[in-house]
Amino acid sequence: MTDEPLLTLRPDPDGIAKAAAILRAGGLVSFPTETVYGLGADARNDSAVAGIYAAKGRPSFNPLIVHLPSLSAARTLCHFDDAAARLAGAFWPGALTLVLPLRPDAGVSKLVTAGLETLAVRVPDHPVAQALLTAFDGPVAAPSANPSGRVSPTSAAHVQAGLGNKINALVDGGSCAVGLESTIVSCVGKPALLRAGGIPAEALEACLGQPLALPDDPETPVSPGQLASHYAPQGSVRLNARTVEDGEVLLGFGNVEATLNLSPSGDLTEAAARLFDCLHQLDAMGAARIAVSPIPDHGLGRAINDRLHRAAAPR
Ligand code: TXA
Ligand code: MG
Repeated sequence: MTDEPLLTLRPDPDGIAKAAAILRAGGLVSFPTETVYGLGADARNDSAVAGIYAAKGRPSFNPLIVHLPSLSAARTLCHFDDAAARLAGAFWPGALTLVLPLRPDAGVSKLVTAGLETLAVRVPDHPVAQALLTAFDGPVAAPSANPSGRVSPTSAAHVQAGLGNKINALVDGGSCAVGLESTIVSCVGKPALLRAGGIPAEALEACLGQPLALPDDPETPVSPGQLASHYAPQGSVRLNARTVEDGEVLLGFGNVEATLNLSPSGDLTEAAARLFDCLHQLDAMGAARIAVSPIPDHGLGRAINDRLHRAAAPR
């Protein structure tokens, strides 16, 4: 909780300079990325990072992603093997997070890694995030800017509603184009998919020329944040609904009659971009029982279904 009212900043040079100064002073700044809004703090500052966990109500065993303006900046924190260098070269800046061996001299707070010897790093592809990271000129730890376990934010209004009284500043950069969090790949050993996300696994596998190990493979390192219940709206969620029961509202996909539709034309990119906003809208409507149309399980559909399964999980 901060004493000062939330400072909403414009995504112009003045707003970016103010946001960077707040980060330097150990404050919490929410900023837009192409995936979702992040809640940023100086990754080298223990008390600033502790503030992220407190604001989100996040369990401290769940490590954070560090955001950097470039691959060369990321190389000062982590070791890149051939697979990691190839993925970063192909998909950065973009919706890909790499989990890599942490350099002992990286200077990142142990609270960021939750004590692990690996670090999750990402170079976002959003002009406001890029400008802020460049102005700050250091590593920015940033989880999604939502209370822990709730739906991730894809607009400044979502951040304000969820965390408005717990953070120092918010840079308003409009809606997030991708709308789902980054895909997380571990390159500690054999490349493994830890979280489906904004870049389809098929594209990563094509780049690597080999399949990714999956989260349930015993050799895949665990991603501590993949809690079963997550992304939860206030109402209950029923998946693969082909009919609507009494008292339910339908979150549709494709050519169906629905209260809200992720994509009437059945486009997975559009559905990904709209998913969290639709869940926020259903919360705002007070929807108690949400039925969701079936979503194809390929490309971005895998990440959409991953989020929906967690939203539907017992709480
Ligand atoms: O798109 C995104 O990735 C957004 C934007 C803001 O960049 N960030 C985001 O952060 O989704 P968050 O904290 O909501 O999710 C980060 C995930 C968690 O599941 C966490 O457990 C995992 O990354 N993670 C972080 N460091 C890790 C590590 N060293 N090893 C394995 N998993 C890690
Ligand atoms: Mg999150």
